[in-house]
Amino acid sequence: MAVPWKASVFRETGFTMNGIERARADLAKHGWTVLRGQRFGAGHDEVLRIAAAFGRPSTRDGGQAVWEVRPRPGRDHGTFSERTGPAAFHTDAQYHAQPEDYVCLFVVRPADDGGDTRVLGAAAALSSLPAGTLTALREPAWTWKVPEVFRSGAPAPTPTTVTTTAGTIRWRSDNLAGPPGRARRRPAAAFTAALDRAEAHQVRHRPGDVIILDNLRTLHARTAFQDPARLVLRVRLWAR
Ligand SMILES: [Fe+2]
Repeated sequence: MAVPWKASVFRETGFTMNGIERARADLAKHGWTVLRGQRFGAGHDEVLRIAAAFGRPSTRDGGQAVWEVRPRPGRDHGTFSERTGPAAFHTDAQYHAQPEDYVCLFVVRPADDGGDTRVLGAAAALSSLPAGTLTALREPAWTWKVPEVFRSGAPAPTPTTVTTTAGTIRWRSDNLAGPPGRARRRPAAAFTAALDRAEAHQVRHRPGDVIILDNLRTLHARTAFQDPARLVLRVRLWAR
């Protein structure tokens, strides 16, 4: 399958408005972009300064704008951001009635054995599905589990659509609340299989990378890794 679109990769050294404006344009056009060679450490100030150029940081899950994505001892069965291993294609915060518009991933320390980000546009992800599957994915009948680590104070999930006629997307196959009912089992399996087959862009992580994803138009995944030192800082953003 041909790769449907290509986001430019910027090799800016430092935080320049020129680079940010090009990245914003790229994000609007393609649904994702990468800023390379940015200067931030494991601290949060510079991360938030860069993130704020793309939207308004959300503190909704975890009570803080910057969430450390790193393997946590004893959380082998936690959500993706707490454990090693791969992550299948998903959107973030799919369990909220309104997920955040953007997700920024700041690469502090890449894993030495993988852990790269894969990116797939919703249009490409949905393009091979039969009409009946698309119709099922557009029904407001899908419910999602809130990850245990974010559960306190979260409202009870209400059924949502997976996609809309406007082309938005929300998905995480292992986070469906209970096994999908009979009418949704086949569409869920068909979409999962289509995502497994899809040819996606892969962003090889380097320190100083900032990967910015349109969380309503793009799915992301992670290649497998075991390195306990991998550290990515995540900031979810509301569009202005
Ligand atoms: Fe994610």
